[in-house]
Amino acid sequence: MKILTNTSLKPYHTFGLELNANEIIKAQKSDDFLQIWKQRPDEPKLVVGEGSNLLFCEDFAGVIVLNCLKGIEVQETTNEWLLHVAGGENWHELVTNTVDRGMPGLENLALIPGLVGSAPIQNIGAYGVEFKSNCDYVDVLMLDSGEITRLTAQECEFGYRDSVFKHGLKDKAIVTAVGFKLPKCWKPVVGYGALSELGERDDLTAKDVYNKVCEMRCAKLPDPKEIGNAGSFFKNPVVAKSLADRLLLTHPTMPHFGVSDAEVKLAAGWLIDQCGLKGSCVGGAAVHSQQALVLTNTGKATAKDVLKLAKNVVETVYDRFGVTLEHEVRFMGRTAETNLEAICLP
Ligand code: FAD
Ligand code: EPU
Repeated sequence: MKILTNTSLKPYHTFGLELNANEIIKAQKSDDFLQIWKQRPDEPKLVVGEGSNLLFCEDFAGVIVLNCLKGIEVQETTNEWLLHVAGGENWHELVTNTVDRGMPGLENLALIPGLVGSAPIQNIGAYGVEFKSNCDYVDVLMLDSGEITRLTAQECEFGYRDSVFKHGLKDKAIVTAVGFKLPKCWKPVVGYGALSELGERDDLTAKDVYNKVCEMRCAKLPDPKEIGNAGSFFKNPVVAKSLADRLLLTHPTMPHFGVSDAEVKLAAGWLIDQCGLKGSCVGGAAVHSQQALVLTNTGKATAKDVLKLAKNVVETVYDRFGVTLEHEVRFMGRTAETNLEAICLP
């Protein structure tokens, strides 16, 4: 393990806010995590990948543990590629390497920031594919027993931006590695938005899908290296069908997707956009002008600016549509996770 001398959090989360932690440590093997948890039972501790789904709301009065576990093993069966990938590998590099080496399946998830070990936490998804689609197993270090346990994809209870790691195993397990099963018989998933243009080609390759996904993402989503952000700030809300039907009477073009007989998913970006909030600012925080679902740090935002802007978005959307937006981004308070409702803003 490596204890860093600089405790600024700025390089370790993609919002790029000027905040600090008490200590930042790199865990290079799974035993490092265990040692840190054993040696500091009373200190707040947080595992961080690339901090691309995190908003630090204030300085963190504890230890940030960076996941630096490395290694990729590939096996081949008659019908599948089987990959065992350490949690500290970069997600997009994995997607690029698998597509380039003729092991398709992850191409729709290209350019999602973050680490492989963070991908199961919220079951990352984009362009009609989710992490769970190709997940065989997830290896976790159980912090109570110190054992590494293998969870099947089913045991991970994956849902829309959800998994057991946000519920039953929250703060109890650290993802150390992920197993993927990539079928050799590749079926492209090109039903989402402009990807469907590709569906007409019969010589379509995974690299074509990968390239189109990268092109679409670059057109809409700000690059965190240039503009601080954490991707979609809010989840797409799932509402009662009766509410969606009422809204459709007055807004017939509203994007909506049935998730069951009783529930409909709405597009949070569309709701925010309809409220005229694109480009609106609080201090250095702004609603992105290309994609209303993304809140950005235009350079000198404070955590309070981002929180006030988020609160303003939630209240405006509720007043106009009667829909409550929940944030997808995980909020870290001084010693533990928190959320927008719990934070008092002047
Ligand atoms: P972090 O932000 O570091 O951590 C996220 C949470 O997981 C924290 O609570 C952390 O404590 C916990 N955690 C991290 N690693 C572990 C571990 N090994 N064990 C246990 N807990 C852990 N997400 C999507 O789903 N789809 C998208 O299309 C998408 N696009 C994005 C675009 C941009 C520009 C950005 C900035 C973000 C986007 N995201 C998207 C969100 C983000 O990339 C994902 O949630 C990603 O998986 C986060 O990875 P990370 O390593 O940065 O995790
Ligand atoms: N829309 C607007 N205005 C906007 C943004 C969106 O009208 O400013 C409309 C679009 O025209 C479209 C609909 O809303 O009709 C949905 O937009 P888009 O296809 O861009 O997807 P999204 O719902 O905004 C979701 C995920 C993204 C993921 C994309 C592609 C969530 C919360 N977000 O965004 O994930 O990359 O679909 O699959 O589910 C993330 O989680 O961080 C993330 C970026």
